Amino acid sequence: MDGREIILAITGASGGPYALRLLDCLDKAGAHIHLIVSPNGRRLLADECDVRTIEDVCLLGRACERIRIHDYEDIGGLLASGSHRTDGMVICPCSSNTLGTIASGRADNLIGRAACVTLKEGRRLVIVHREMPVNGIDLENMLRMQRAGAIICPASPGFYLRPASIDDLIDFVVGRVLDLLQVPHTLNVGRQSGQETASP
Ligand SMILES: Cc1cc2nc3c(=O)[nH]c(=O)nc-3n(C[C@H](O)[C@H](O)[C@H](O)COP(=O)(O)O)c2cc1C
Repeated sequence: MDGREIILAITGASGGPYALRLLDCLDKAGAHIHLIVSPNGRRLLADECDVRTIEDVCLLGRACERIRIHDYEDIGGLLASGSHRTDGMVICPCSSNTLGTIASGRADNLIGRAACVTLKEGRRLVIVHREMPVNGIDLENMLRMQRAGAIICPASPGFYLRPASIDDLIDFVVGRVLDLLQVPHTLNVGRQSGQETASP
């Protein structure tokens, strides 16, 4: 998938391991990755994954030249313009705060602006929301986003592939996200249960 450009936004919801695995898989697939991390996303990455600086993310054997880090505050950056073509955006994990911000049409940081641009240009926007339980405001925001063209993909691993480890649970969610982004991957291969030949 040479040349495919994917925006990955990381926000302050629990689920840093999903984001790092997704980054890894996008990189392995040869995608060009535009990375935006909110300040609370940075905090969560530090708390959950010991990633102290965003630059650390790129030091783990990943192809740094294909990962471009963008300033969360820079609403005039490359991704703020629809004339820069990308092949989609994923927010993983997505907090209720960011979900609500985008659902209300606000674009006062680069994650909100890039999401707004992705929708207005008719490109794929995948929102990996993480919260439980969800309140009525979250549900309304999800419906609003879905009606605007986004795909709501809650971080909600299934158990029918008989996960044996936390990594298996992470790969279940990340595999579904990659499917939605139409990025080839081999996650969960060999873990299909007898009854399941495709993810529901
Ligand atoms: C340890 C920790 C875990 C959190 N987990 C979640 C979560 O799973 N989902 C969520 O919506 N917010 C969660 N929050 C709250 C968000 O971080 C908070 O609403 C923040 O304003 C989100 O900012 P952002 O959307 O700009 O990243 C968590 C906060 C902390 C400190």
